Amino acid sequence: MRWQDAIRSFVPPIFVELNRLAGDFDNPVGLWHYWQARRKCAHDAYITWLCQVTGGWLSPKSGNIQAFYHAISRLPPSTGILEVGSFLGLSTNIISYLMHKLSCDAGFFSSDPWIFESTEEPIGGFFDAASPDYRRYVKETFLANGRIYGGTKRSHAFELASDDFFVRWGEAGEQVDLYERSVRFGGGLGFVYIDGNHTHEQSRRDFENSDRFLVPGGFVLFDDSADAGQHEGCRRTVAEVVATGRYRRVFRQPNYFFQKLR
Ligand SMILES: C[S@@+](CC[C@H](N)C(=O)[O-])C[C@H]1O[C@@H](n2cnc3c(N)ncnc32)[C@H](O)[C@@H]1O
Repeated sequence: MRWQDAIRSFVPPIFVELNRLAGDFDNPVGLWHYWQARRKCAHDAYITWLCQVTGGWLSPKSGNIQAFYHAISRLPPSTGILEVGSFLGLSTNIISYLMHKLSCDAGFFSSDPWIFESTEEPIGGFFDAASPDYRRYVKETFLANGRIYGGTKRSHAFELASDDFFVRWGEAGEQVDLYERSVRFGGGLGFVYIDGNHTHEQSRRDFENSDRFLVPGGFVLFDDSADAGQHEGCRRTVAEVVATGRYRRVFRQPNYFFQKLR
């Protein structure tokens, strides 16, 4: 456990919440948008249930879910949604559900090669998360979760590293997803959720590739980019996004969620 996490485990939840909100005290409009989304999602029965029955790192109060809600409810017309990094499909199925709830008809795509980070050492000295058996288990569980929980908005899932996904997206044309459905690639994206490999090199490349296809008014959310988080690479990437001057921060709860200006 890192020392920041150790301290956090002693702090009453109200202070954790206040500290999180403090991330947007310089941005009252963003704070207001965050609260609007949170009112809709934090006590939603299906989101709560999905977070309980699916492995992953989200809870109904996660700022990421409020960002999904904000982006989907304001998605620029005729654009698609892309998730980079799906794991077992928790975030994937929450996005599918919110698309249903918000009557969003965009195409929804997800890409994951099911190659996990930080697996050099066995977890707890016991479990090898880099084994082919575990990779197969995660992929098959993702597919089963999509079938059972994704409803009519189930993602067009691809077993691809994000770099390869973007190459194919740029080529445009017909592709067959992991559920054996044919779908057309190409065109503008209105929301990209970046939650794949968290190194600076890869998260930056995921941003640069997303930027090529994101339309003005579109959204991008970086998982694990919180100021106090453990992924220095993602923090560097979001600083570079700010430096472009072409993105405005919608909110930071605690991860950075941007809207493209131009
Ligand atoms: C933190 S998990 C994703 C969790 C998921 N978004 C959720 O919230 O339920 C990260 C995932 O990124 C995937 N990944 C690693 N490198 C990737 C890459 N280059 N492109 C896309 N996904 C990648 C891993 O296989 C892993 O499943």
